[in-house]
Amino acid sequence: MRKLFLAATALTFGTVAGIATAVYAADVPPPWAYGFAGPPPNPMPPPAPPAAPAPLDNTVQHTLPGSKATFTRAQIANRYGPADWYPEDHPPMPDIVAHGRESANPQIFACGLCHYPNGKGRPENANVTGLTYEYIVQQLTDFKNGARKTSDPRKGNTALMAGFARSMTDEDIRVAAKYFSSIPATPWIKVVESETVPKTRPQGGIFLPLTGADAGMEPIGERIVETPVNVEDTEIRRNPRSGFIAYVPPGSVKKGEALVTTGNGKVTACTVCHGVDLKGLGPVPTLAGRSPSYIGRQLYDMQHGNRTGTWTPLMAPIVSKLNEEDILNAAAYLASLQP
Ligand code: HEC
Ligand code: HEC
Repeated sequence: MRKLFLAATALTFGTVAGIATAVYAADVPPPWAYGFAGPPPNPMPPPAPPAAPAPLDNTVQHTLPGSKATFTRAQIANRYGPADWYPEDHPPMPDIVAHGRESANPQIFACGLCHYPNGKGRPENANVTGLTYEYIVQQLTDFKNGARKTSDPRKGNTALMAGFARSMTDEDIRVAAKYFSSIPATPWIKVVESETVPKTRPQGGIFLPLTGADAGMEPIGERIVETPVNVEDTEIRRNPRSGFIAYVPPGSVKKGEALVTTGNGKVTACTVCHGVDLKGLGPVPTLAGRSPSYIGRQLYDMQHGNRTGTWTPLMAPIVSKLNEEDILNAAAYLASLQP
């Protein structure tokens, strides 16, 4: 029923000036890709005033194997100078990446806080390694111009990201793009096909396994569940060497492979533009081994007119023909590839 509806609306609305304008009234952003347990309430309640951040502990010293450093929670999550556990893992960070700029309006948090100093990032933000300088400059410019928003109004960190881009000078953009584009992508996500997944709860845009009496398994259904390999490493210490597991429905990787490499007769094969190895072609971004939540979110945002950057029209004829299942399968397959 839903598939028929999607096909019908895609046909009715088509595209205008190469930009997807289809409006899927009965359609909701897939909660698994946006980090929520269910769809956003309709209508959305008025936004609550931002709560003051809870003060973080500044006495207990945390450590990580192979790091000489020790940091408190307050230092680990310091918006203007977060922990750098392994300085040897990345080139020297420029000031905007290491510290952001507190005096800017809106303020710019250190890029390394969310994307980690090594750029590998987390499912709720983005992996910014393996991308070209031109691509990163274009995306920061798109964020700055309001061309990258999110389809789920509860996802506040996308608006934060756009605010940072608005405050960044051209020089900041160049320096940050030069830094992150110099870091090659390396494996970060393990894809596991499974009928059942650990029960999880969403927190801050990612899914954490339940513990104690609530822990257990449940059917995966039609979703991807991306969760830290080590919850404490990710949540407490923000360990930039501790990656993620993505549980995906059985068969989704193979179905995704067919769609991505052949286009299944309905879209141009993704490999035509993203490269035969899907590691990017010229400025077209890499997709191999990236967060399936991020990939799913971007495809949905482009499909629903919330990502409309200068280069997004190239993706318009693709996303206008993808249904929810295609998005999930493509994300599962792409995440499973060696970056
Ligand atoms: C508060 C967390 C946060 C901080 C700090 C942050 N970002 Fe982001 N960034 C995000 C989120 C969230 C997204 C993805 C938005 C989405 O999925 O809707 C993103 C996406 C991006 C992308 C797009 C990647 C792609 O593949 O298209 C780039 C590039 C980027 N950020 C660069 C930066 C730079 C440079 C800085 C520092 C000036 C920075 N970010 C600081 C949260 C953050
Ligand atoms: C005609 C060329 C073309 C084809 C075919 C194509 N893409 Fe893209 N894709 C692009 C370009 C260009 C961008 C950058 C868009 C932008 O800047 O907004 C992009 C961006 C993306 C992104 C966002 C990546 C990021 O870092 O944010 C995803 C995900 C993506 N494509 C997936 C796919 C999938 C899946 C397919 C096949 C079903 C596909 N693309 C086919 C050209 C293409």
